[in-house]
Amino acid sequence: MSHNKTLAGRPVISSTGLFTPAETITNEELVDSFNRYVERFNAENADAIAAGDTAALQPSSVEFIEKASGIKARHVMAKEPILDPGTMEPRLPERSNEELSFMAEIGVKAARQALEQAGRDVADVDAVLCAASNMERPYPAMAIEIQQELGIEGFAFDMNVACSSATFGIQTAADYIRSGNAKSVLVVSPEITSGHLNWRDRDSHFIFGDVATAVLVEDAGIAPGTHWDILGTRLKTVFSNNIRNNFGFLNRASPEGEGKADKLFVQEGRKVFKEVVPMVAEMIVTEAERLDIDPQALRRLWLHQANAGMNRLIAQKVLGHEASADESPTVLDTYANTSSAGSIIAFHKHNRDLSDGDTGLICSFGAGYSAGAVFVRKVA
Ligand code: COA
Repeated sequence: MSHNKTLAGRPVISSTGLFTPAETITNEELVDSFNRYVERFNAENADAIAAGDTAALQPSSVEFIEKASGIKARHVMAKEPILDPGTMEPRLPERSNEELSFMAEIGVKAARQALEQAGRDVADVDAVLCAASNMERPYPAMAIEIQQELGIEGFAFDMNVACSSATFGIQTAADYIRSGNAKSVLVVSPEITSGHLNWRDRDSHFIFGDVATAVLVEDAGIAPGTHWDILGTRLKTVFSNNIRNNFGFLNRASPEGEGKADKLFVQEGRKVFKEVVPMVAEMIVTEAERLDIDPQALRRLWLHQANAGMNRLIAQKVLGHEASADESPTVLDTYANTSSAGSIIAFHKHNRDLSDGDTGLICSFGAGYSAGAVFVRKVA
């Protein structure tokens, strides 16, 4: 079906989809593997450590991880190589050009669920955005591969705004609807974060997990009866080196692994915590006021899932009181940080119980720094 491209539309979220990898790693399994790696490293380097030339590695602990982050487990695409102390990478086998890429494969699964939930025929979808922190290759775009696999006409492209990729994708989709350039846009976020995580780094080895989400952003005119009106969106970026990954086509890890650490996720976690909490809380409150929404009356916050402490503080600043699990649900315990997909998983799993007229906020924040806020109201 070809849509009238001149009529401006009103964007809503029609549905969402979620793909969760079958394999999980508990904190106990993760720490056991990490500590075997530490023992091995310290034994192999015993002389250099004794001579003071090499620093001994310290073991990780389950208690620290849970207390510092709220994470208890994570889903991954390839458990065995990640937990092998001699490998500690996902090592997904390279796929041929004829096979679906990993990101497209899991993105399609999440997308199909969203399409099914909305009862949407692929012929009525105009665009696909693949919005994620890491891309499997530079081109052709994973989004176009997903588009092809689903049989969608129109256009597709990849976009990367780190942990805010999904919310930036939602605003981009909403803008296509608002301008009348599209009536139905799929925002797909396959986040295979196990690939950028340094599983040998004690400070961050517990942070990430793998998942894929999909959000179907549509014009209210074609949306299913139950949907979420998008009341307003706001994006913000402020440059920071505190979360960084130097991997790139001019800047690859050497085959020997020399200098590899900075070609993976690196962060100054404490600075991130201190700087991002006030930035995000302020953005939410300012945008709520602009939209004439009382932030303290928000029924639910679906916040980025990076750290339970950060979410507690942001929710408190926005709501004016300590948020209950009902007001600010977490999926960190089972999913860990899934980058841009986190707030979408929280929304996907915790929105059906809300009632017609309830107002909530999907919010992301992360590397860049980048932050995105999507205010939504339920129509049921
Ligand atoms: N096991 C046991 N102890 C550990 C450890 C581990 N895996 N990792 C660090 N520690 C120790 C440190 O060595 C330090 O010990 P010391 O006080 O004796 O020096 C202590 O625990 C505290 O470490 P610190 O790094 O200051 O912890 P923290 O309480 O700041 O928590 C983060 C670390 C990363 C969980 C936290 O800063 C955070 O979540 N920040 C925001 C991260 C974020 O959202 N990033 C966005 C990514 S998209």
